[in-house]
Amino acid sequence: MAKNPQEQKMQNVVSLCRRKAFIFQSSEIYGGLNGCWDYGPLGVELKKNIKAAWWQDMVTSRNDVEGVDCSILMNARVWEASGHVKSFTDPMVDCTKCKGRFRADHITNNQCPTCGTKDQFTEVRHFNLMFKTFVGALEDSSSTTFLRPETCQGIFANFDNVISTCRVKVPFGIAQIGKAFRNEINPRNFTFRSREFEQMEMEFFTRPEEADKWFEYWKDFRYNWYLKYGLKKERLHLRPHATDELAHYAAGCADIEYDFPFGRAELEGIANRTDYDLKRHSEFSGKDLSYFDPTDNKRFTPFVIEPSAGADRATLAFLVDAYEEEAERTVLRFHPKLAPIKVAFFPLVNKEGMPELAEKLTFACKKRWNSFYDDKGAIGRRYRRQDEAGTPFCVTVDGETMTSQTVTMRERDSMKQERIAVDQVMPYLEKQLNGD
Ligand code: GAP
Repeated sequence: MAKNPQEQKMQNVVSLCRRKAFIFQSSEIYGGLNGCWDYGPLGVELKKNIKAAWWQDMVTSRNDVEGVDCSILMNARVWEASGHVKSFTDPMVDCTKCKGRFRADHITNNQCPTCGTKDQFTEVRHFNLMFKTFVGALEDSSSTTFLRPETCQGIFANFDNVISTCRVKVPFGIAQIGKAFRNEINPRNFTFRSREFEQMEMEFFTRPEEADKWFEYWKDFRYNWYLKYGLKKERLHLRPHATDELAHYAAGCADIEYDFPFGRAELEGIANRTDYDLKRHSEFSGKDLSYFDPTDNKRFTPFVIEPSAGADRATLAFLVDAYEEEAERTVLRFHPKLAPIKVAFFPLVNKEGMPELAEKLTFACKKRWNSFYDDKGAIGRRYRRQDEAGTPFCVTVDGETMTSQTVTMRERDSMKQERIAVDQVMPYLEKQLNGD
């Protein structure tokens, strides 16, 4: 059956990701591992730039957010306190005909999505999504713990450490970027639903009476963050949760959703988690996690506003949003701050000192930005290769360079070329790449 244009687009993006070394299947030479992905040389740069932009905007450029980097394995009591041991489950059914396993809430008309059989499912069972493991040599219940299914619990467990060692005052936040693991029943849509993924989470601690105000602030801030780095507004949506959708700990929640080629889906959630987590950890650890405010001599347990984003979902959204097929080329129109390679240098021909100068410029730029040197093939093909990698600028050293000390600077989106002086290459790029 012919694919619809959106399915075709997704297939083309997936194939470009493989061809241009953005994303590979994990352990591909062994047939892969479902729900796990590896980032190749271009993908790792893109994802690293997305995480760096998040860290810069959420931590470094602010004076009210601190960063942490917590361990993936934690004391198993953390997951009892957080409620994950008891209730981090998905409802699961098996098709008795084809033996396929599905999330019960993803089934429509009681029909198997794989073989199409109707009304042939087992009873719903609840399946805990945490990966279990053992710490130390003994494999028994006393040594059991879990790979963290979300990064925020490390933040709550360190609330008191940060309060007592850094001069922070409520309202303030603690941020973390790191791996999380969920044994998803049906990993799907490329990297969108994976079993191993990265989260970018920030827990913002506020006075209870100010929680609503900060909830509004962070919804707005996070929605605009995706626009700042180029996601198209018409594909980005902020959806408040209905009351019956809210997690047991949340007083309010909104999702930032993106129109992926496979449909509208969650990029990030912003939740008002109330004082649930700090109170639960106080109860389970015996450590008082309330906060004393010296400005009015009041003690209270802060409320938490949590913007929780997925680094892999953001990477996928920036990839599909940037992807465009034109008559003569396929181009990734990444925001320059996110682009994996910032500039490529080409000698027009491999003689007359052109390769030497192009290489010299490449290494000078490599000290500041990920830069690329290419002397293979016709110049048009070299431009096309960089368009597919999303490189915003290409510089060609040609015959005129040797006489006039100028090069051609070519911009990816407009494909416009201009001659600039060799000694202006770095200042030009500095302005384009590092200016706000
Ligand atoms: N601490 C709150 C929390 O973890 P969540 O909605 O379960 O909330 C937050 O996850 C974000 O993590 C999601 O919006 C998504 O971007 C990312 N995420 C969750 N599960 C994922 C999965 N299986 N694969 C990729 N990203 C995932």
